[in-house]
Amino acid sequence: MSDFFSSFWGWYVAAISLISMLACLVLLWLTSKKRISSDTDNTTGHVWDGDLRELNNPLPRWWMWLFVITILFSLVYVALYPGLGTFSGMWKWTSDSAYTTERAQLKQAVSPLFAEFATQPVENIMHDQRAMAMGERLFMNNCAQCHGSDARGSKGFPNLTDQDWLYGNSTEQIIETITKGRNGVMPSMATAVGSEAEISDLAHYVMSLSGSPHDGLKASAGKKSFSACAACHGADGKGNTALGAPNLTDNVWLHGWGENTIVGIIKNGKNNAMPAQEGKLTAEQIRVLAAYILSLSNSAVNKNTALK
Ligand code: HEC
Ligand code: HEC
Repeated sequence: MSDFFSSFWGWYVAAISLISMLACLVLLWLTSKKRISSDTDNTTGHVWDGDLRELNNPLPRWWMWLFVITILFSLVYVALYPGLGTFSGMWKWTSDSAYTTERAQLKQAVSPLFAEFATQPVENIMHDQRAMAMGERLFMNNCAQCHGSDARGSKGFPNLTDQDWLYGNSTEQIIETITKGRNGVMPSMATAVGSEAEISDLAHYVMSLSGSPHDGLKASAGKKSFSACAACHGADGKGNTALGAPNLTDNVWLHGWGENTIVGIIKNGKNNAMPAQEGKLTAEQIRVLAAYILSLSNSAVNKNTALK
């Protein structure tokens, strides 16, 4: 209600609510006064199917009292809870404070479960089946909407099960990523590279780094322009985890593959953010999540070596 600029609407809503509750009572009182008239046959006069008539009896007592009770209940309810315009109710209940208290209660209830992981090395947590089940549930509730329920990501959202890391896969790096979030920023490089043709040549050079299909002539013409990219992606194009600059020599493409995509990124740059989780999750929950993610990429390695 605080969104309204004048207090008029608060009073207006309160008045309508109260008047309609009282009107129900009045209506009930008026209809219950009606007596059965003995001089007619006491029907409404409607006839269906030849001989079906509707009796005009007053409402049964039990039904009337139920109605009265519901009206009284609603009056008590709007006195205690916020429901009448801007009046906040005698109990001062708000959905905000209810949410905060419930969160605090939940935190208290789960913190003993996670306490044992506060000091354990992440390598040990990875081998604790119970912790991994907790990690999976945390992941489904907090991360799957972006990284996918199988953690394989999608365009713009990194795959967390492979061996390609924008920000590194040491325990500290992963915990830092989840706790503080990350923001990968690549500025627009069009002016640094030059003409459309030079940008297209450079895109072919970038594709050649990973052995992707490319035009060899264009790629060798584009090689010189890569010096503009080396500060972040490295002279060899292998990336830099301190900046989140991706490795361009592997065949993993966060933002899609092909000349058009790469030309688009060179021209427009890229800004991609992973939101910080420290306000939402406790340090112990983040440790368990870090272990869960590392176990996913490790088991992917094990599977790959098993296949070979
Ligand atoms: C709103 C979407 C979103 C949510 C929710 C989200 N992430 Fe991310 N995450 C991203 C994006 C986007 C990136 C890539 C950031 C970049 O490109 O700089 C990322 C990057 C990461 C990375 C770094 C990957 C690498 O290659 O270094 C990790 C680890 C990660 N997220 C884990 C998590 C975990 C664990 C959760 C749940 C607690 C989570 N993310 C929730 C969007 C999200
Ligand atoms: C200031 C640092 C910086 C410079 C300079 C820079 N980049 Fe980037 N680049 C990044 C970052 C950071 C990302 C990742 C953005 C994100 O988080 O999604 C990126 C992403 C990319 C991608 C997407 C990779 C993928 O997996 O989809 C390509 C391609 C790319 N850069 C090419 C270039 C080229 C070519 C140049 C030189 C003209 C260049 N970059 C210059 C920082 C830089």
